[in-house]
Amino acid sequence: MSFQIPRGTQDILPGEVEKWQYVEKTAREICDTYLYKEIRTPIFEHTELFARGVGESTDIVQKEMYTFLDRKGRSITLRPEGTASTVRSFVEKKLYANPAQPTKLYYIGPMFRYERPQSGRFRQFVQFGVEALGSNDPAIDAEVISLAMSLYQKLGLQSLKLVINSLGDAESRKAHREALIAHFEPRIGEFCSDCQSRLRQNPLRILDCKKDRDHELMATAPSILHYLNEESKAYFEKVQQYLEANNIPFEVDQNLVRGLDYYNHTAFEIMSNAEGFGAITTLCGGGRYNGLAQEIGGPETPGIGFALSIERLLAALEAENITLPIETTIDCYVVTMGDAAKDRAVSLVYELRNAGLKVEKDYEDKKMKAQFKAADRHHAKYVAVLGDDELEKNVVALKNMETGSQEDVAIDQLISYLHQNI
Ligand code: HAM
Repeated sequence: MSFQIPRGTQDILPGEVEKWQYVEKTAREICDTYLYKEIRTPIFEHTELFARGVGESTDIVQKEMYTFLDRKGRSITLRPEGTASTVRSFVEKKLYANPAQPTKLYYIGPMFRYERPQSGRFRQFVQFGVEALGSNDPAIDAEVISLAMSLYQKLGLQSLKLVINSLGDAESRKAHREALIAHFEPRIGEFCSDCQSRLRQNPLRILDCKKDRDHELMATAPSILHYLNEESKAYFEKVQQYLEANNIPFEVDQNLVRGLDYYNHTAFEIMSNAEGFGAITTLCGGGRYNGLAQEIGGPETPGIGFALSIERLLAALEAENITLPIETTIDCYVVTMGDAAKDRAVSLVYELRNAGLKVEKDYEDKKMKAQFKAADRHHAKYVAVLGDDELEKNVVALKNMETGSQEDVAIDQLISYLHQNI
């Protein structure tokens, strides 16, 4: 019997995993400079959290969740995204009581959605996301967007497009909702069944429909931007002003609605424009969710964040032919000749590694020539040769693989020699 990996998941093997580690390290470093702290929440939560948080009418909740009953019959769901869990924890652990506000958090971890797998779309994928809770300052919207852009830019991506929109506050959204219903209702029979149920549940999402994208009523649909009240308009203008101040180019797209229910005010997506990038071009999505904490039983708290998947980020790097500066060398390979040297090498590599050096030796009884080949494969900076002669003198014959020069170095001096010369 043989087993295969489940559809829509992947094994990330050595050779590939270094890229993930590099991206994750860069994301952590950026969060460090912006003072976002890591939060780790469980991989599974009570299903009700996502039903309420992400929204009953969303595709995620209606058809994409991995939901099961546990042994006590409780409905459990593998997290499809990180915002609901982060806000749950913020409320449950009373992070709002901390005098240092806003609470700025980030996470990196797997998310699960039962979607049709295709390039850039997985059933298990890793999101890096940030959430800033407790501030209603448009400067934090610009900060969150800038943070996402800095990660992409730091990794070398150039073909990026930032699209922003405002979904307004509750009052603006209500007025827009009514206008949308009035616009679509007379001809809703011409739309797909999903849109027909969206008409009353969440008419905004009709604008997001892939099937009815070309229907003539789409182009003439009332724009949210015409329904923003003065406060929402002023807020959106401030966000744009701050993005301009940070020299971050953007486009306003009044049809950008986002697929999750919790958004209001600022919504944004970052796409890749790179030629050859797959059909799915959205790299990152986020926005403001001022009612979410309250919706899940917490105090009224404004919030904004984004999430991006590492899978799509790596695909964008590949589309732009960017190679990450990943270290592939080792410091020293210990080559041995004879049984006594072989035995001594066991403790020698242990000592070198304890001193923080990246060191390897042979474990297959290879001939000396093959050991040198292995050292080359590892891109060793130095090779330390240990034979009976060297053992007697308590030295290694140390070869600098870049210059080819060789000298005897006392074994008890080897650590400091390597530290000084690497
Ligand atoms: P989302 O738009 O559903 O938003 O997902 C955000 C990002 O996750 C997408 O732009 C994409 O990079 C990645 N993503 C989503 N689904 C998949 C998939 N099946 N395979 C690979 N990558 C995927 C959210 O999840 C919100 N929680 C974002 C947010 C945080 N809003 C406020 N705070």
